[in-house]
Amino acid sequence: MDSSMALFSSLILMMLSLTFSEANAREILVGGKVDAWKIPTSAAETLNHWAEATRFKIGDWLIWKYDPKQDSVVEVTKENYDKCNTSNPIAEYKDGNSKVKLNRSGPFYFISGAQWKCQKGEKLIVVVLSPNHNKPKPSPPPLAPSPSTVDPKAPTPSPVDPKAPTPSPVGPDPSAPTAMEVGAPAPAPVKNGGAGGWRNGVITPLVVFGSLVGMALF
Ligand SMILES: *[C@@H]1O[C@H](CO)[C@@H](O)[C@H](O)[C@H]1NC(C)=O
Ligand SMILES: *[C@@H]1O[C@H](CO)[C@@H](O)[C@H](O)[C@H]1NC(C)=O
Repeated sequence: MDSSMALFSSLILMMLSLTFSEANAREILVGGKVDAWKIPTSAAETLNHWAEATRFKIGDWLIWKYDPKQDSVVEVTKENYDKCNTSNPIAEYKDGNSKVKLNRSGPFYFISGAQWKCQKGEKLIVVVLSPNHNKPKPSPPPLAPSPSTVDPKAPTPSPVDPKAPTPSPVGPDPSAPTAMEVGAPAPAPVKNGGAGGWRNGVITPLVVFGSLVGMALF
């Protein structure tokens, strides 16, 4: 009963945070300026130099602005990127105001539709970080009653000990939930930076917080 409510609350929180990050999707002008889709004049001016200094997230949009009579944008495989081969594109954009949604993690390869321009360096690799990379630790949920309840650095023992003698692992006195809001030390997992870091760093605090919300609501 307790754990199913905790799970339910956690699912709601995860959906909220997904919605929140989707709303944060950005529109990124390639090269940071309108006429950047062109043959670079120096190594420091290549679009890949710009891309390496930019963080791309799933859901972001890339926008190219260029003269459609002179140029186009072609998304290709890595092999065709290396060869400036546009004969078997993944996608082609020719309207001069091209928008591409970065809908997955990993690399995206773009080259000019004019092969000679590609060969002179008019090309772009964008690498989208995986979601795990974007979430090294949980951001405070918007409805959190107190930031201390999700503090991953709290030095208290794990709240999910199966041998715990009481059915409620999250507080000494469940009938007085306000005690937790006025500064009683909140149980939270020790932060784990190892292989299980994402699970322990995000899921467990969410479950802890979810069970707190469950207790407060029900
Ligand atoms: C370009 O790609 C096509 C299809 O992938 C392939 O058939 C062709 O040989 C490639 N051309 C060059 C020059 O690599
Ligand atoms: C991303 O979008 C492209 C083009 O719109 C589509 O072909 C591809 O299947 C999508 N990938 C994912 C993982 O949704």
